[in-house]
Parts: sequence; C-alpha cells; structure tokens
Amino acid sequence: MEDTLGTVSSHYARHGALTARILDALKSAGKNTGALGLEDLAPLDQFHLRGHQATRELAAEAGLAPGQRLLDIGSGIGGPARMLAQEQGVAVTAVDLTEAFCRTAAELSALLPEAAAPAFLCADATRLPFAADSFDVVWTQHAAMNIPDKAALYRECLRACRPGGRFLVYDVVEGPAGDPYFPVPWASSPRGSFLVAAPELRRLVLAAGFHELAFRDLTAAALAWNRERQARMAEAESPPALGPHLLMGPEFPQMIANVGRGLEEGRLGLAMGLFAKPD
Ligand SMILES: C[S@@+](CC[C@H](N)C(=O)[O-])C[C@H]1O[C@@H](n2cnc3c(N)ncnc32)[C@H](O)[C@@H]1O
Repeated sequence: MEDTLGTVSSHYARHGALTARILDALKSAGKNTGALGLEDLAPLDQFHLRGHQATRELAAEAGLAPGQRLLDIGSGIGGPARMLAQEQGVAVTAVDLTEAFCRTAAELSALLPEAAAPAFLCADATRLPFAADSFDVVWTQHAAMNIPDKAALYRECLRACRPGGRFLVYDVVEGPAGDPYFPVPWASSPRGSFLVAAPELRRLVLAAGFHELAFRDLTAAALAWNRERQARMAEAESPPALGPHLLMGPEFPQMIANVGRGLEEGRLGLAMGLFAKPD
C-alpha cells in the first residue's frame, strides 16, 4: 500500500520546481503574474478530461450553494478547488497525496486576487484527517484511478459527508476493449493505474452507502473533446505554452496520445455520478 502511494506521488512529482516553472510559462505567455485570474490558470490547473468546462458543468449538476463546506479529494494543483470556491462561493478544503502539488496549489492560490482561497492539505484519500459528517459536499475529479482500494476511498467519502449531503465523482474508467496504453497522465505504467469499469464504480459507491441521484457515461463527450484538442495541437506551429505538460514534463504529448488512442479503441471511458448520503 505504502509502495503504491509512493509510486503514485512520484509519478506526479516527477518534474521539480513546479511553481517557478508555471510562473515563468505564464510570463512568457504574456500574463501579468501580479494580477492572475482563474482563466489564466485554467489551461494548466484543470488536470482532467474536458478541462474547466467539465468542472463548471459538474458544479451546475451538483446544485452547489454559497457557504456550503466542500471537500475536494485528489485536488492536484488546485484548479477545480479554486474555481468552485470563487464561482460558487463554497468553502473548499482540498486534499492531495502529492506534497509538491499541495505546495504549488497553495502558492498559486496566493497569487489570485479573490480571498476565497481553498485550504490545501496533504493526505491520503483512504485515510482522511477529518471528523465524520464534516462536509456538505464531497467531490472528486480524476483521482480514483490512482487508488486501488476503492471500497476504502468511498467509505471515507461517506464518512466525511454529512447526512443528506452530496457526493460527486468524475473519473476515468476502464473500457471493454482491454488495458490502456502507457504512459497515461495518471500513471507511467500499470503499477500506478487502478481503473474499474463504470458499472463497478457505481456499485462500489452504492455499496459504501450512498444513494444515486445521477450516473452518466461521458465517454462520447471525452472523445469529442480529445479529438478537438489533438486537431488543435496538430495545426499549431508550436506546442501550447500553457498546459499540463508544465506538471508532467516532456512525456506529456505521449501520455495524451495514449489517452486518445485508449478512448478511440474502447480501452478507456469517462463517467460521472452524483450521489447523496442518507439522512
Ligand atoms: C489527474 S490529477 C487530478 C487533479 C485534480 N482533481 C484536477 O482535476 O485538476 C490526480 C490527483 O490525485 C491525487 N491522488 C492520487 N492518489 C491519491 C490518494 N490516495 N489520496 C489523495 N490524492 C491522491 C494525485 O496526487 C493527483 O494530484
């Protein structure tokens, strides 16, 4: 287990001096790093399929209300957490396994003018450092695929959520056509990747004790988005200055090519679910 946590966090922390590299890239792209906004960071800090558009759609689906306490699990460098805090007025606590990501998340948040900054903590999602019933909404985008013990993950999500609260999950799932090609953005090899098919994800969340409000296969939307992204990259004279390659290094183009191939061949899928904790 500790071995898996180490494999996963070293996969993400592969490319050092993260905040400095991001700031240099923002300056080179002509951004004023003294007056950054969510949209400036969105090309690089929304580290999941369908980018910031997905986070906004999920926020609308979850029916968030200002003042709610939201826990973002596997928060990366904090893009979704900042967007939810600023646009929805929710009080966000964010946890992530990768220490370097937690540090960069806090450093980037300190550069934004709005004060609704999330609190970032370094912790393992299967052992959350919170009392039971602490949050109105528990939220996770693209983290379960790194977590082998999903029963423990969803049990912790249920425990952290207050009775009547919501749980939102948005994750890459296994497709019917076999294993993905590696590397992918979440894992260099099968050692860090723990995908389940969408029906199994849903079964695990229900088995933890949540009730289902909505569950959708979003693979077609992921495919369309990815084709558009690859077409844009093929047409561009040079690679984009801002993007998740700043986090993941020179292997990133290969990683997204493998995601594209995996989606096209039915090896990967995308699912979202909205659930409630019984009263
Ligand atoms: C692909 S990134 C997604 C980041 C963020 N949710 C987003 O959409 O921008 C996956 C994140 O999950 C985190 N993660 C993986 N396993 C975890 C665990 N056991 N506990 C907490 N975070 C974990 C990784 O460190 C990484 O930051």
